[in-house]
Amino acid sequence: MRFDKSAAMLAEARSVVAGGVNSNVRQADIAGPLFVERGEGPYVHDVDGNTLIDYVMGNGASILGHAPAGVIGAVAANLNRGQTFAAQHPDEVALCRRLTQAIPCAERVRLAVSGSEAVHAALRLARAFTGRTKIVKFEGHYHGWLDNIMVSTRPPLNAAGPRESPVAVPMSRGQPASVLEDLVILPWNDVAALKRAFAEHGPAIAGVITEPVLCNCGVIEPQPGYLERMRDVCHAAGALLIFDEVISGFRLGVAGAQGRLGVTPDIASFAKGIAAGFPLAFVAGRADVMDLLLPEGHTLHSGTYNACLPAVVAAQAALDELLADDQAVPKRLLAMGQRLMAGLREGARKHRLPLLVQGPGPVFCTLFTDRPAVTDFRSVAAADTARLADFVGALARCGVRTTARGVWFLSAAHDEAVIDATVRAANAAMADLTA
Ligand SMILES: Cc1ncc(COP(=O)(O)O)c(C=O)c1O
Repeated sequence: MRFDKSAAMLAEARSVVAGGVNSNVRQADIAGPLFVERGEGPYVHDVDGNTLIDYVMGNGASILGHAPAGVIGAVAANLNRGQTFAAQHPDEVALCRRLTQAIPCAERVRLAVSGSEAVHAALRLARAFTGRTKIVKFEGHYHGWLDNIMVSTRPPLNAAGPRESPVAVPMSRGQPASVLEDLVILPWNDVAALKRAFAEHGPAIAGVITEPVLCNCGVIEPQPGYLERMRDVCHAAGALLIFDEVISGFRLGVAGAQGRLGVTPDIASFAKGIAAGFPLAFVAGRADVMDLLLPEGHTLHSGTYNACLPAVVAAQAALDELLADDQAVPKRLLAMGQRLMAGLREGARKHRLPLLVQGPGPVFCTLFTDRPAVTDFRSVAAADTARLADFVGALARCGVRTTARGVWFLSAAHDEAVIDATVRAANAAMADLTA
């Protein structure tokens, strides 16, 4: 496959779209960035006339596939009711009620538009509740693009300091250095490092924020007991535990990673999977924390587009599909993900490639490394990124689109036939790499 028109469109876009793309994450993507004409189930059709099997899936948001009929139908049927009222509507209360029933930590829910904002609200609530300012954040974890948290997500190793006590590294020009004072950066999956941080900073720590399954870097599961210890360390020090479930939510089951792993945080942020590609996010948590958003709590969170009707209707329809038949969709994401992972591993064995395929299945990662597993940012950073870029490029030429960082997102539209076609294409890409 060739992507000439996409490349030409990117060049043209740069004269009117700042950077040529509307999210910097897309600048990293190979072969273009690809210009998509339309999405359909597990496929994207691009401007060059190619059809690719998609495993970017809106970076995880399009959990039911592109243009899912049920969601589209529900949104279309409600479009003439209006969009944004700056008032309440009954649908938002109904949605929040269902979310409180489905998600363990969700005694109260507050809707937002993007994951970055939901994280921002969670951090503000933790600081308001505890009266403290410091947040513990882990190296390699991405919690959105805002100034106070886009730190040490992928720091260059020559600036990142020692693994046990990493240096806080801002990820963009324009971030004020003052935000670094409020963060304590730690390696993940390391209880001893967490305890040391609390011994040093305990009375100043408002909360610890973590992806419960580290989806943005290696797709790493927590080591057994790690999240339980994290919760206990937080609570012993009067700090709050915050799960960022923007990716893991809905994808690992409707109750999120917290339901799957049996550890309930005090607050959690969600987005992506909830509205099947429409912009909706939320922060959920303990009633005593979330009720700070009542007028007497003097803690603010707002947004013109929060709970806009089409997104809420989309979320209701998506939730219907995710919950149907005892969560048949999340179970299918798991089964299809594992089928694909097994196929990729088999292909790598055949082609003698040191390809690590790691993750629960609905989301997983491919990395070039001799290690049997990656467990934190530093082990991911030691992998061969040039070889991964070659593989991702070869996959695209063979008709499979995945993320530049090697993370693959399944959707409900990826069935056995699509998975098997992907494995065939991946074998061709691997043959290309070893030729
Ligand atoms: C774990 C996590 N948190 C927060 C965000 C930010 O969400 P958004 O891009 O909707 O602002 C992302 C985005 O990828 C994410 O993966």
